[in-house]
Amino acid sequence: MDDVFKLGPDYYRSPGEWTYKGYVLGGYNRKDIFECPDFAEYRVDDCFVVSYPKSGTTWTLELTQLIMNDGDPTFTESAHHNDRIPFLEYKYDEFPQWEGLGILKKLKSPRLIKSHLPVSLFPKSALYKGCKVIYVARNPKDVVVSYYHFYKTTVEFGEYGGDFHDFLKQFMNGKVHYGDWFTYMLEWWKYIADNDILFLKYEDMKKDPRLATVKIANYLNRNLSDEVIDKITEYCSFKKMKKHVTNENNEGNYMRKGVIGDWKKHFTVAENEAFEKIYNERMEGSGLKFDW
Ligand code: A3P
Repeated sequence: MDDVFKLGPDYYRSPGEWTYKGYVLGGYNRKDIFECPDFAEYRVDDCFVVSYPKSGTTWTLELTQLIMNDGDPTFTESAHHNDRIPFLEYKYDEFPQWEGLGILKKLKSPRLIKSHLPVSLFPKSALYKGCKVIYVARNPKDVVVSYYHFYKTTVEFGEYGGDFHDFLKQFMNGKVHYGDWFTYMLEWWKYIADNDILFLKYEDMKKDPRLATVKIANYLNRNLSDEVIDKITEYCSFKKMKKHVTNENNEGNYMRKGVIGDWKKHFTVAENEAFEKIYNERMEGSGLKFDW
């Protein structure tokens, strides 16, 4: 560990925050994943869903897994989300059963893997091997709101005790797990431009969920009928997923509201102005735009 990261005992009690190459990581992030790129023996037919937290990862994962199973929900319904989809860099004493690598090694191919690693720490052997990578992004104002609610209720994140405005400051300073959103997004964005990675936006998925299903199916070379595409899309609607995706350690807090624009209920006018200013400065020239 490079150094232990402290954010103030009143707000933030997560054990073992640390920074690695400038990224803030949680105590549940294992170093050997990114220090030893061949560690997990990735397979050419592995598929990764990668994102900054709270960007629609769970939704994209559920869609992708159903697509990989040609719309058959048997596997989806056979096990808890975390047992069928390893969270690559996760290892936490309180939930040893969900150690990412342990699950990964037990699964049959083709495997679906979740990761929030920044591109600089993402296992390059997987990328060089030609594994499929789906990247999902979300407008950062809604990310910070979703992240705030997640931090408040999630044990690995220390059950944050501050209010939203404190949390927004931390987020803007990059002092949250996986670090500064802008750096994270721009690094991946550059990598995506040069590689065969499917890029999805949460807002586009909300506006046209069927198209998201089609895009994932095409990317994975799955030839599915219109009927199966419709079935998968419907199965992964927010309402349906809230029922079938449980998260035992977090009491379902992966499924909160599922809307675009909840930030409007959280940001003050001044906070929004400050956020937009930073967004415009940091993202200038990237060509990356979000619907707020
Ligand atoms: P909110 O907290 O804004 O509701 P992740 O899976 O990356 O942690 O992202 C979680 C966010 O995605 C949460 O946002 C959650 O409600 C939303 N989400 C999960 N499944 C969804 C679905 N099927 N449709 C729309 N939003 C969904």
